[in-house]
Amino acid sequence: MAGLAVRGTTAQERGAPAVALAVDASKTGVTIDRNLFGQFAEHLGKGIYEGVWVGPDSPIPNTRGIRNDVVAALKALRVPNVRWPGGCFADDYHWRKGIGPADRRAAQMNPDWGGVIEPNTFGTHEFMDFIDQIGSRAYLSVNVGSGTPQEASEWLEYLTASQPTALQKERAANGRPEPYTIPYLGIGNENWDCGGNMTPEHYLQQLKTFARYTRNFNPAQREGDTRMLKIAVGPGGGGPRWTEWTEVIMKGWKARQWSWDMDGLSLHNYTVVSFPPKFASVGFGEADYARILQATLEMDDLIASHSAIMDKYDPEKKMALVVDEWGAWYAPLPGSTPGFLVQQNSVRDALIAALNLNIFARHADRVRMANIAQMTNVLQAMIITDKEKMILTPTYHVFKMYLPFQDATFVPLTFDAGTYTHGDITLPRVDAIAARDTSGTVWLALTNLDPARPAEISATLSGMTARTATGETLTAPAIDSVNTFEAPSTVSPKPLSAIVSGDRLTVTLAPKSVTVLAVRP
Ligand code: AHR
Repeated sequence: MAGLAVRGTTAQERGAPAVALAVDASKTGVTIDRNLFGQFAEHLGKGIYEGVWVGPDSPIPNTRGIRNDVVAALKALRVPNVRWPGGCFADDYHWRKGIGPADRRAAQMNPDWGGVIEPNTFGTHEFMDFIDQIGSRAYLSVNVGSGTPQEASEWLEYLTASQPTALQKERAANGRPEPYTIPYLGIGNENWDCGGNMTPEHYLQQLKTFARYTRNFNPAQREGDTRMLKIAVGPGGGGPRWTEWTEVIMKGWKARQWSWDMDGLSLHNYTVVSFPPKFASVGFGEADYARILQATLEMDDLIASHSAIMDKYDPEKKMALVVDEWGAWYAPLPGSTPGFLVQQNSVRDALIAALNLNIFARHADRVRMANIAQMTNVLQAMIITDKEKMILTPTYHVFKMYLPFQDATFVPLTFDAGTYTHGDITLPRVDAIAARDTSGTVWLALTNLDPARPAEISATLSGMTARTATGETLTAPAIDSVNTFEAPSTVSPKPLSAIVSGDRLTVTLAPKSVTVLAVRP
């Protein structure tokens, strides 16, 4: 793992170990794109209906049908982009069913997720209203699997045309005369599997056609920085099948003609040991704790291997690697609806979030966008709702603690990670990243993976004169501690200060904890 030196356990580590860490604030790297903190909201289980949309007549406080408590919580996260409507659902989605008067929307099946009825009440305008309310930006996935280039092309014209075409007039009649801004467009989703089981060659041809015809007509997005970026379906893991996928798409892109282009290649990688997922999200022991953390750290090698292929065809790194589905995928909670992917979110998930965000930051030259799966009530959610009640998960708190890393400049650091061993699994004991914001504050994110031993950090700071180091830390009584509607703050951040003396900073990290400190000059 980049930046980590894993080595054998020393006697000192078995006792009260100290972790040596060095930050040179005068050395800087690339920008940690705020889009790395993106979210994914699919029409799946209670992800949209109840999690976001309750309807204007609901007794749950809402604005135009979108629940106010969820909006306020997400606004506080400064979510940079939201990927919608799927996921597998994207390749079953026909946008026309989700526009126009609510009582005339065509209900359809949601065959991907529980075989329930999808009422299409939450459609294009409701999604755009939602991201507007939370202050975010749209990342739409067009239907390649069961849709046509014409359908995708017309959706884009409907969304973005400013001139009085039939589609622009229809949009205006539905309440939105001005064009929408669509900064990111996904061309399909997992078209190697739920999106049509295509070979890479077949998908490449689809990509060329869809990329050609999905035009953004918004005058404010014609060119330059505001141009809509197109993201191709990329690999779904590691190994020969996925190496071939990345090779074929990248090679095809390198040989592209003027008529099509793309800006990103997606990567999907869940923290899951095997499918169907067997590991429990709550009520697990240390063996499962260690195995899941081991699985999550595989993200680093996966990114490195696909980045190496991309480097061959794109040494200038024009194309981003977009990890637009990541997070922990556990066995569904007993008693939950099959296909709704309901799971709890423990302090282990807080560590998973931090470790993955750290990996993305270390690869920020290539990884410039990522979307955790998913936003509300599904998989490694930020937010869990039950009718009018809402709780913020440990993962939510980590995203909030990491806010200063959005668009900050990566500061390389060195540290001796040490080891945490359980059974035959050995992991780095500590992980860390650093970044500097525009005010000159250096931010340190420190994770202690060891569930039993505190870690004393002894850091040397150069390139700046630090005066204070304050921040927050998140831990919990047990490795599977969760927040519940009865006890919503069991896993929540608490203030923490480090001792700064001359060029030295010392702080003790609690077992199984995530800490973010602002080191101020
Ligand atoms: O996030 C759940 C599902 O996982 C998505 O719909 C699909 O793209 C992936 O397989």
